[in-house]
Formats: sequence, structure tokens, C-alpha cells
Amino acid sequence: SYPPTLTIGSQTYPTDSWTNTPSSILAAIPRKLHLQDSHPLALTRSLIESRFPRYTSHTTLPAVVTTHQNFDSLSFPPNHPGRSPSDTYYINSSTVLRTHTSAHQADLFRASNSPFLIAADVYRRDAIDRSHYPVFHQIEGAHTWSMSSSSIAEIRAETEAIPAPPVRIEVEDTNPPFHAQRNPLQAQHDPELTTAMAAHLKRSLEGLIGTVFARAPRPASQANEPIKARWVEAYFPFTSPSWELEVLYQGSWLEILGCGIVQHSILDGAGAGDRAGWAFGLGLERVAMLLFGIPDIRLFWSTDERFLGQFRGLGMEGAWPRFEAFSKYPACYKDVAFWVAEHTGSTAGGGGAGPAPSATTAGFHENDVMELVRGVGGNIVEDVRLVDEFRHPKTGRRSLCYRINYRSLERTLTNEEVNGLHEGVRRELVEKLGVELR
Ligand code: PHE
Repeated sequence: SYPPTLTIGSQTYPTDSWTNTPSSILAAIPRKLHLQDSHPLALTRSLIESRFPRYTSHTTLPAVVTTHQNFDSLSFPPNHPGRSPSDTYYINSSTVLRTHTSAHQADLFRASNSPFLIAADVYRRDAIDRSHYPVFHQIEGAHTWSMSSSSIAEIRAETEAIPAPPVRIEVEDTNPPFHAQRNPLQAQHDPELTTAMAAHLKRSLEGLIGTVFARAPRPASQANEPIKARWVEAYFPFTSPSWELEVLYQGSWLEILGCGIVQHSILDGAGAGDRAGWAFGLGLERVAMLLFGIPDIRLFWSTDERFLGQFRGLGMEGAWPRFEAFSKYPACYKDVAFWVAEHTGSTAGGGGAGPAPSATTAGFHENDVMELVRGVGGNIVEDVRLVDEFRHPKTGRRSLCYRINYRSLERTLTNEEVNGLHEGVRRELVEKLGVELR
């Protein structure tokens, strides 16, 4: 149901059997919220950039990239779930909307040796709730050095020179800089060099979270307490060793960013095989939501003056106010239950830490339901949850029931409007996904 070509900006791309990017997603590409004056995402970007004044900042790299840029150049294995059209928006078999800012790493390593930042919109097919939206924003940073022994002293000196953040931070880091099984040193890397780069990376990012969390609202009783953070080991196809940085905020550990020592193959493939360095990536929405107390990710897309007006005129000087909800309009829950046409068999790995149960099986993917609902209801859909799932003991058919919460952030919906949307969802489930309504 796609035309033979899609035009995005000034480029036209042929479509094929991989094409799965609806026009509602393409419509988000020109928005560039991270560049919109005094938008909370742009303020958050500027705050982060302020920690890295000597890094070259890239903010307008195009969202359409090749599968080589997004996956292959970063050593994603051929069977990595991120490549699946259930998770990624394909323009055609070799062209995607970037799923992360890391898609630009290789090109920027090729272009220059200088440290850089990338801020950009990224695109992922995912569940619908108040903290997930198919378009969000990331900021990436990277710093490399020549792989010579003189670099070690240089890196240590640069590490010493990293300015202290405006608040005290207390960091727990219990693991060694690398570990043969869990978090390996790369064959091409001198252990001392990796240790020095890891320390530079960690001090840089600890300073960053100190700067960010200095602006996060805290109860007066905690105002003089240090910010608590911890390093945990992680895995990414394009870094080793790898870590995540978590911050304790309002009683829970929040994963704030992923990072690590760049895989040699990426630099080598980019004509910089004599260099080594680190990279990190971080989601702007999560940080902006806690800095401003924004309760729903859809708000970032609002053009309502009651939203945008609350940030106008804000800059890096002065405190940032908490967002004041203009009103909480009523929720309207509607269920839809259907039989999925499919084989019996085990539910194939649902792709991570998502809530159980996982409605992922061959031929049917929950993200298809999510996108269909978002396509019909747009930003009126607050969340979509699987509330019931069972398999018929005789026929082996699977039944799913999803609960859709229709709630506008900007007005009260009428019954007729919600009924109309829900009818549309039911119709499209049959027409597009071939399910049998119950
Ligand atoms: N690209 C990773 C993500 O989107 C984050 C990351 C960037 C991790 C750079 C390591 C290094 O999850």
C-alpha cells in the first residue's frame, strides 16, 4: 500500500517490500524539536553541550541513513533484532530512518579527528505509553586519540582538566575497567590506553550528570545531599568494554546513558585505524521529562501555547521552572480483543526488558498493533496495553486483548469522536493485520 517512491526533503527513494514507514512518521522529520528555540528538548541539548565546549557539534545530520550506516558500520550482527522491520522504519531494503545517533559515528570519524557531539531525532517502532514515542531525540558524543604511547599522558592530563560539576556526586564503580569474559579489552588496545580512555570517559560523563542533575528538582531536605550514580557493565555491538551510567532519582535508579570504548573495526573502516577512543549516547526526552517535570512524552510535540509558552525566554542562565499541567482531561479506555491467525509455537524472544507477556510471534508483532493505533488515533492515544492473552486449548489459536487509553492532552474528547477512532482501529486491525475480532 505504498507508492512506488517516497520523497523526503529533497530526496526521492524507491519503495520495496521492506518499506514500512507511514506518512505520520515522515511528517515528524522536518519538526527538529531539538533546534526549536527554548523548546525543552533544545534547552536540554544546550545544557549537555555546555559540558563539552571544545567538541564539534552536529545538529542537522539527515534522518535518512543507509542500513550500512545504522547497522553494518557499527558491527551489528546480521541477525540482530534491531534490524527487524518490526523495530525499525525502513524506507526500502537498504535505507532506514536512523534508530540511533551512532549511525553517524563512522562518517564523522572519517571526516575529522576532533571530538564531536551529534544531536538528532531518531526513530523506533515500539510500545505506546507516556514515555515511549516512535520519534525521540538522542545526543551522542565521541572522542578519539592517536593509538601511540604518548597519548596516555595526554589523556590523563585531559582527564585532570575536566571541570568539577556544580553539585557533588557520589559514584559507585565496582568493576575493573575491563574484564576478559564480561567486558573485554579489544585485541588492538594497550590495557593502559584503555584504562586511561575509560577514566576520561567516566569523569566526562560524571561531570555531565552532575551538571544535568544540578537542575533537577529535589525536595528541600535533600538539597545538600550529593547526587548518587553508579557504573554498570553493558553490551553494545559497537563498543568494548561498555557501560551504562545510572542515577538515583526519586528513589529509583534511572539508566541515563550507554557508552564504551569504540570498536577498532569502526575506526579502521573509517580510515582511522591508528586511533582509539570512546563514545556515549543518551536520550534527551527522559532527561527533559525529569528536569521539567513533563509527565507525557507526547507533550514535546505539542504546538499548544499553553505548553510552549511555559518555556519561552528560558536559557542557560537562571532556574528552569517545572511544567504546570494545563489540565488533566478525562481518560477513555476501550478494549479490543481478537484472534491472531498464526501457528502454535513458543513466543519468540520479545526483545528485552519489556513488560510480560510478550505478544511477539512469527507473522504477528505487537509493534504493528501499536503503529496501527497511533496511525488512527495520533497523539490522542496515551497508551496501549496487552491486558489478556490466551491460547485456545483445541484450535491452538491465540487471543489477545489490548486496552487503549484515548486521552487528549489539550481538550476533552467527545464520545462520538472516541467511538469513531475505536471503530477505525477495529476496522484496520482486520484489514491490515488480518486478525479476527472477537
Ligand atoms: N546507540 C546506543 C543506543 O541507542 C547508545 C550508545 C552510543 C552506546 C554510543 C554506546 C556508545 O542505545
